Amino acid sequence: MPTSFIMNICCIGAGYVGGPTMAMIALKCADITVTVVDMNAARIAAWNSGQLPIFEPGLDDVVNQARGKNLFFSTDVAGQIKKADIIFVAVNTPTKTYGVGAGRAADLRFIESVARTIAEHAESGKIIVEKSTIPVKTADAIKTILASNTKGLKFAVLSNPEFLAEGTAVKDLLNPDRVLIGGERTPDGEKAMETLVSVYARWIPRDRIITTNLWSSELSKLVANAFLAQRISSINSISALCEATGADVDEVANAIGKDSRIGSKFLKSSVGFGGSCFQKDILNLTYLCESFGLPEVAKYWESVVGINDWQKSRFSARIVKELFNTVADKKIAILGFAFKKDTNDTRESAAINVVRHLLTEHAKVSVYDPKVPADEIKTDTLGKGVDNPRLTIAKDAYEACAGAHAIAIVTEWDEFKTLDYAKIYAAMPQPAFLFDGRNIVDLDALRKIGFKASGIGKPAEGR
Ligand code: NAD
Ligand code: UGA
Repeated sequence: MPTSFIMNICCIGAGYVGGPTMAMIALKCADITVTVVDMNAARIAAWNSGQLPIFEPGLDDVVNQARGKNLFFSTDVAGQIKKADIIFVAVNTPTKTYGVGAGRAADLRFIESVARTIAEHAESGKIIVEKSTIPVKTADAIKTILASNTKGLKFAVLSNPEFLAEGTAVKDLLNPDRVLIGGERTPDGEKAMETLVSVYARWIPRDRIITTNLWSSELSKLVANAFLAQRISSINSISALCEATGADVDEVANAIGKDSRIGSKFLKSSVGFGGSCFQKDILNLTYLCESFGLPEVAKYWESVVGINDWQKSRFSARIVKELFNTVADKKIAILGFAFKKDTNDTRESAAINVVRHLLTEHAKVSVYDPKVPADEIKTDTLGKGVDNPRLTIAKDAYEACAGAHAIAIVTEWDEFKTLDYAKIYAAMPQPAFLFDGRNIVDLDALRKIGFKASGIGKPAEGR
């Protein structure tokens, strides 16, 4: 077992989590060599190039400062396992699409495969850190696989879930609300936890580094995401009531958020939450609850996903309804495709549902996103290699909106707040509609231009 003196960290998985978290550790710990490995050679090549595989504000700068000094990206998984004192596991844990638990349980095959690879190639005992989000008790499976190594090596398994949000990853890693480390309450477990604490303590105040038992740490990650998503579904459910009554959801959110017991964050009503994790982690939580004989708890959390699905379809159904119940052959501009601003990630983006719905209604959909490549928008919507002449990708917002009967703002990119909407209006057939799925534009100002403009949870014109 390594002592608290760490020389080498290896991270398996060079994705949205592995890349940025390791870049920050390297930047803050000049004496530690950090190597991020992945079986995806193209991704590793991108991390080693001037064009990083993910867009994240401030990340280029962090990577450029450390890469080649004490931060490396490599495909040599076995070689780096041998060298490492600490191995972070940051591989993907998607929802299972087959067999028992399909559609809900986490698919742990990447986690298991990494544990087996470590057991096969390690030549000394190490600290293994679960960075991926996993079901509670996964550390047991990892420990069992590692213990089957043929060299008699001893490993300590820690849970250290990641709480960064995309678009603010660098800020979140520099100044996290907390770092959570779970381990076994044994002398070896405590020693391993202290070793990992000593890494983070280089730049994070000690009182923000929480240590718990393994199961509390694993479960806290799922619960944190479930609570965050629940707030969005709660306010989104109220947005429908606002539309029905003439209340304004932003005013309601502001009024309730001033209560310090409720708090103001994560109360922004929207077309629905997206991203790779909220839905996946809640489904995983509900599956766990059922596995432990708690169907009532499962049902409670399931409704958070249910409201989100409803909110997404409510938005596109409203577009069809307001355009006189038919969008067939009408051009509709979709502004934004990423699941939130300041990221090029489209996983589970509400835009996918909205575009698909409109295509099903035979609309001509023109999508513009400042960061998502055209082929990705097409693949996400239609499937790989499939084309549909009704779906086009525009080079900017003005091109997307020219000749459109309606505009739908689906991602809250800042540039959509300052577009020349009078110019856009002049290039649209009348009546021209605008549906703000993020409540980022001034509806009154747009209505003065002539738009039939509506937002989420906003009073209708003249109400
Ligand atoms: P990702 O898909 O972007 O990256 C995972 C990487 O792991 C991929 O590049 C894949 O090639 C690699 N990989 C898989 N199996 C491997 C193996 N056996 N050997 C080597 N490489 C392997 O995923 P992500 O978004 O970085 O998420 C990783 C984990 O972190 C997930 O469990 C997720 O729930 C969690 N998480 C994600 C975020 C986020 O913002 N994306 C935030 C917190 C936690
Ligand atoms: C979320 C959590 O915020 C992170 O703490 C967590 O680490 C991460 O999931 C994860 O486990 O992957 P992320 O999905 O990157 O981070 O981004 P969020 O800012 O949480 O946004 C998620 C979705 O909710 C986006 O579609 C966003 O637009 C939407 N949202 C967010 C709202 O609709 N309203 C809000 O008030 C906040």
